[in-house]
Amino acid sequence: MAGFRICGGEKIEGTLRVDTAKNAVLPILAASVLPQEDTVLTDCPRLGDVECMRGILRMLGCESCWEGDALRICGGALSQGEMPEELSKRVRSSIFLLGPVLGRLRMATMAYPGGCEIGLRPIDLHLSALKRMGVRISEEGGMLRCDGRDMHAADIHLDYPSVGATENIIMAAALLPGRTTISNAAREPEIEDLQRYINAMGGHVQGAGSPLIVIEGVSRLHGVTYQPMPDRIATGTYLCAAAITGGQIELTNARPRDLTAVLDKLRAMGCVIAEGEQALYLSAPERLQSFDALQTQPHPGFPTDMQSQMLALACVCRGASVIEEKVFENRFAIAGDLCRMGANIRVTGRAALIQGVERLHGAHVAAHDLRGGAALVLAALAASGETLVEDVHLIDRGYERMEEKLTALGAKIARV
Ligand code: EPZ
Repeated sequence: MAGFRICGGEKIEGTLRVDTAKNAVLPILAASVLPQEDTVLTDCPRLGDVECMRGILRMLGCESCWEGDALRICGGALSQGEMPEELSKRVRSSIFLLGPVLGRLRMATMAYPGGCEIGLRPIDLHLSALKRMGVRISEEGGMLRCDGRDMHAADIHLDYPSVGATENIIMAAALLPGRTTISNAAREPEIEDLQRYINAMGGHVQGAGSPLIVIEGVSRLHGVTYQPMPDRIATGTYLCAAAITGGQIELTNARPRDLTAVLDKLRAMGCVIAEGEQALYLSAPERLQSFDALQTQPHPGFPTDMQSQMLALACVCRGASVIEEKVFENRFAIAGDLCRMGANIRVTGRAALIQGVERLHGAHVAAHDLRGGAALVLAALAASGETLVEDVHLIDRGYERMEEKLTALGAKIARV
């Protein structure tokens, strides 16, 4: 498997344009089977997860092709709702297809998506919502068979504001006659983007970004050319690269309002941050100050997808920090690798206590998950000596050509 070789100690300085958001594109790719015509996603990122989703769509009869930086999906060609076991097990985002395939074909079959490094990733909230909408779901040998012939609009309450469950219900209801409501809905910006996309195709979704979402089903949706939102987690990750190396960075195509909780913590650590309409500028101190305590929460709380990056920053800041991971049950896997780089971290359950050290040193480490892998790169940028990060295909799932972007910003990093 490929790796990154990083010589630490260089400041990250310069300008970077933020890519389009992976976690907006994935549900939109799923929703692209709803309209009768094609969807063209402009400025679509070339990511591992996008290619996996294309593979599943192809199996369902929907070809897609690159047109420069745009991706064209022939969603109207959806011909069957049986997702192959090996693909739907391997790719978690296949769960996003359950709602739209049911919405279009009223039938869907897929394997129970597996868990992953950061947790069990159950789908009970997805399934109980679909059952509430009249879908009959049976499990046979790890396969989920969903019969939606009697599907109907419904008022759904989510016990937990699950991002994926909220998106699945919106997509299942978009073509369903009547009014479906979701209370205690997730409020992530990517859900607002899905709403914008569906409404651009003639749908009637309202309330995304708030805890109450209302979907008025329509009889058909037409094709569209759509530009999804910028990636708020990639934005936060590259801000952290400048922060941990005492550098400075300007990010264009950024949306500061999507990551206020992250900006708040970086300012508490001593970073000076200026916000533009579509840009962000960060200048870091020579050495970061501890943020004291941090708890991950559903949006607009601190995003769990930025927790690993802040763990890396906490390792080298002045003072002690506490991080509580309240969203996923196992998201401190990189603590062991960071300790091998000289960090002082104690993990007890869902909390990590970090005592900042002057400097980390290079080591041979490996990514366990997407955001943990990105955090190890951040730590390596600030460490003395050379670090080898293995299994960077996990990083490629969510960051396009990270090593090229960091090299352009002054880092000494190469893919090996
Ligand atoms: C989305 O995952 C994101 N993925 C994740 O980003 C992100 O970490 C997560 O939302 C939280 O913000 C995509 O958008 C593709 P959830 P999702 O359903 O939808 C529990 C990344 O690195 N839960 O809000 O799976 C679940 O176990 C990825 O880009 C249930 O119990 O997140 C977790 O503890 C990682 N039952 C919590 O809710 C369910 O039916 C949040 O999960 C569903 C979820």
